[in-house]
Amino acid sequence: MEKDIRLDSITAINTNLLRLSDPINFAMGDISPSISQQQRFREFIANSLERPMGYTPVLGEPAAREAVAEFFNQRERISITEANVAITSGAIHGLFMVLNVITRENGEVLVADPSWSAYDFPVRANGLWLRKVDFELDNIDQSDILKHINKDTIAIIINNPENPTGRIYPYNNLVKFIEKIASTPTHPWIILDEVYIDLVYKEDHPQSLISQLKKEPKLIVISSLSKSCALTGWRLGFILAREDFIKQIEKSIRATISCVPRLCQKALVHTLENFNYYNGLVIKLLKKRRDLLCEFLQSVKSVEFTLPEAGIYVWLDISKISRNTKKVTEELFFKKEVGVVPGYFFGPKGENFIRLSFGYEDEKRIRIGAERFISYLLNQTARDKRNQ
Ligand SMILES: Cc1ncc(COP(=O)(O)O)c(C=O)c1O
Repeated sequence: MEKDIRLDSITAINTNLLRLSDPINFAMGDISPSISQQQRFREFIANSLERPMGYTPVLGEPAAREAVAEFFNQRERISITEANVAITSGAIHGLFMVLNVITRENGEVLVADPSWSAYDFPVRANGLWLRKVDFELDNIDQSDILKHINKDTIAIIINNPENPTGRIYPYNNLVKFIEKIASTPTHPWIILDEVYIDLVYKEDHPQSLISQLKKEPKLIVISSLSKSCALTGWRLGFILAREDFIKQIEKSIRATISCVPRLCQKALVHTLENFNYYNGLVIKLLKKRRDLLCEFLQSVKSVEFTLPEAGIYVWLDISKISRNTKKVTEELFFKKEVGVVPGYFFGPKGENFIRLSFGYEDEKRIRIGAERFISYLLNQTARDKRNQ
């Protein structure tokens, strides 16, 4: 079997795991179970089905757009309106639509190194190039980001909180970063991907960069309820931007899906109205899983990681165990039936890392997976010592 299985993308790892007899999936960027299995959600959907389900306006039902605007107005103490909102089929569709509007020949998009591997798809599908660079968001005053921006740089995608590192960047650093970008003669678009902003395990909630919209006309936020409310398959996404930009999005949505399904838009409104309830359930569940997995990992001296503050991933430095993360991924897959993602999928800076998701397996399975994973790591350490 090993010969005909290639683990060369996250999708390939997830798909091929299904061919194993007792796999543990630490690769999947999904959250299970979905909140749509909750009684409250199911009842809402059942009642909604009694209403007509035709097309909606291209940018979304007014009620859905208003609900998103209202949600941000309350949380961020800003005043956007439905004219600043477009409803999309998940955040990645939103990103695709944004890039579809701004694309031009030879255009290049900058993303962080490391960053979510799937950014490559909407970028390339719009005829653009993707370049991974170190944004130095920690050290923004000294950051040399401007040297990476050239006449072809049309957009910069910033993901906060960040996949795969689980980090949250300080709001003020991000504002300074945006100001730096805005000061360049070519002034690229700045796209904030905030899909993990409501999946945070610490008390103080990060502020959305949407609050900078009045100051920064080329700022766009894409987000969704996929992660915050464990509704990945429902595709409940949105774009927030200046009104004139949202108007331009209309033709791209029309050309792709005409509109997000009416039922999903209803589900979006319902979920936002019950946000604290659903989001609370998801955070409680995931925090327990995060703590459990990290407790196991902490017992291994030769690996290093920072407790993720947000999201569903542990970004694990395994350089003391092996510098060949491809081999580690394959051995874990074939010998231990544990799926992980090698860090180089996310960029050159991920070379010595692997990413473990705690979103998909329940606590019992996390325990089993962590035990298998650790026995592999300890075996490697022992082998290294013997070879010294
Ligand atoms: C950083 C990042 N952005 C966007 C997405 C996609 O979100 P959605 O399901 O809303 O398309 C993901 C999913 O894994 C992600 O990790």
